[in-house]
Amino acid sequence: MIVLSVESSCDETSVSIIKDGINVLSNVVLSQIDIHKAYGGVVPEIASREHIKGITMVFEEALNIANVEKSDIDLVAVTKGPGLIGSLLIGVNAAKAFAFSNDIAIVGVHHIAGHIYANALSKDLVFPLICLVVSGGHTELILMREHYDFFKLGETMDDAIGEAYDKVARTVGLGYPGGPIVDKLAFTGEPLYKMPDISLGNTYNFSFSGIKSHVINLVHNIKQRNEEINIPNLCASFQETVTEVLVTKSIRAIEEYDAKMFMIAGGVAANKGLRKKIDERINNVEVIVPEFKYCTDNAAMIGVAGYYQYLKTKKTDNMELNGSSRIKLV
Ligand code: KG4
Ligand code: ZN
Repeated sequence: MIVLSVESSCDETSVSIIKDGINVLSNVVLSQIDIHKAYGGVVPEIASREHIKGITMVFEEALNIANVEKSDIDLVAVTKGPGLIGSLLIGVNAAKAFAFSNDIAIVGVHHIAGHIYANALSKDLVFPLICLVVSGGHTELILMREHYDFFKLGETMDDAIGEAYDKVARTVGLGYPGGPIVDKLAFTGEPLYKMPDISLGNTYNFSFSGIKSHVINLVHNIKQRNEEINIPNLCASFQETVTEVLVTKSIRAIEEYDAKMFMIAGGVAANKGLRKKIDERINNVEVIVPEFKYCTDNAAMIGVAGYYQYLKTKKTDNMELNGSSRIKLV
């Protein structure tokens, strides 16, 4: 089964072609990061315009690289949400036009299901499994008892982890997106700054707005005293605290639900500090971390999720399929 997939929920225009949910024939990602950098974050209006400019070219390149005919494609999968509405609409409409004109069935896919299923490109999933979703917009602990069955154990009560990373980076002038820069600097510092307790007791929920404000206040106070901020130490302190809470709650969920597998998903799954801690602390179940290129937004993950969604539900969408900025996975 050959799936052509489309992702445009934020600032990456991406089209991928995947055979049988595993064999990535092409995965073209056109990133707008360099354009949004100048503004310190994604500007929605600019993002939609860039998607419009790029989408046809990205489709063509994905088809060329995969070397498949349009008539070989069995299913079109597209991110229907959540995300920036203007951005989503470009991908959804391009996917619908392609599916309609070539008489191919279409399915709308949840963006987070895509991030989760990026892992299936590394290994076969074994159930029950726990997935820690850590992205720019989401922080969730998900239990899966079988394919395409998602049960949310907990989520962030306020900011997403990626948002907190980007804010910390911005506070000390590290540029956008800040997550990868904070991650890199954290390895050159020591976690010597005291951070607040963000454990929220024995729940599976998270909260990152407190630590974010703490970092902002700390930097402000240090500046007022005309002292130097040790940025590597600040990054190390922040990273140590947030990764500790993510891994500790994941371990508790693995034990409580007798999971056979643990995996991480989303942009922050690229975080080396998080990967290191998982490697050190989670040894009694099989662990998957997605390949770096499948951590941040890409269409390949949507193709894999679309494939499994279709196998499980046998349902397709019609031409009324629309983008939606806020839809729940579960
Ligand atoms: O999943 P994603 O590409 O977009 C959303 O669906 O939200 O995630 C983007 C987020 C950004 O906040 C970015 O700073 C963060 O992932 N990120 C990282 C790292 N790489 C990307 N955060 C921490 N460490 C990293 N290495
Ligand atoms: Zn994403």
